[in-house]
Amino acid sequence: VEENRRAQIRYTTDLAEVDWDALVRTLEQDDFHNGRTPEQMARSFHNSAFAVLAWDGDACVGTVRVLSDGVCNAYIVDVWTLSSLRRRGIGRRMMELALARLPGQHVYLFTDTMAEFYTSLGFRLQGDGYGIVVGEWLQNAPDGGDARPESG
Ligand SMILES: CC(C)(COP(=O)(O)OP(=O)(O)OC[C@H]1O[C@@H](n2cnc3c(N)ncnc32)[C@H](O)[C@@H]1OP(=O)(O)O)[C@@H](O)C(=O)NCCC(=O)NCCS
Repeated sequence: VEENRRAQIRYTTDLAEVDWDALVRTLEQDDFHNGRTPEQMARSFHNSAFAVLAWDGDACVGTVRVLSDGVCNAYIVDVWTLSSLRRRGIGRRMMELALARLPGQHVYLFTDTMAEFYTSLGFRLQGDGYGIVVGEWLQNAPDGGDARPESG
């Protein structure tokens, strides 16, 4: 049964399939929601280089979101597998599919709880991360678009 369940997981990078309201509801229920509205969730994914999504039927059950310049640096966020489907290789598969799209790039991420998962994928602890939240978390306006300064 477990193998069958695992076999039916589908992986894609197509954001058009995502029902953002449903995804936020699932993340809330799964205790992995970080406060984004469905609109902010959609915008953060669409403004990323790409994301790998895992699907069980029409339910999104996993995400890996990648920020990248396409040349040398990438940063991975929103790494999540639905609780009831963990330890079946879904997280690993999503990360492998993401890393396969980032040849030649230094891929960085932050974790305070899942070191073993990342070291099992070949990541190594590198230095100390420094971070800052600018102003208030998620204060950006609903229609704020991207962060590019006005040109000309
Ligand atoms: C981290 C997370 C995405 C892993 O997803 P997953 O689908 O369960 O991962 P996999 O089944 O592919 O695990 C691959 C390997 O990683 C390691 N691993 C995964 N979860 C682990 C855990 N809780 N403790 C120790 N090692 C773990 C194991 O080596 C595992 O291989 P094994 O099951 O054969 O032992 C999932 O636990 C999750 O969503 N956690 C909550 C959200 C979170 O913390 N995200 C990371 C934020 S930085």
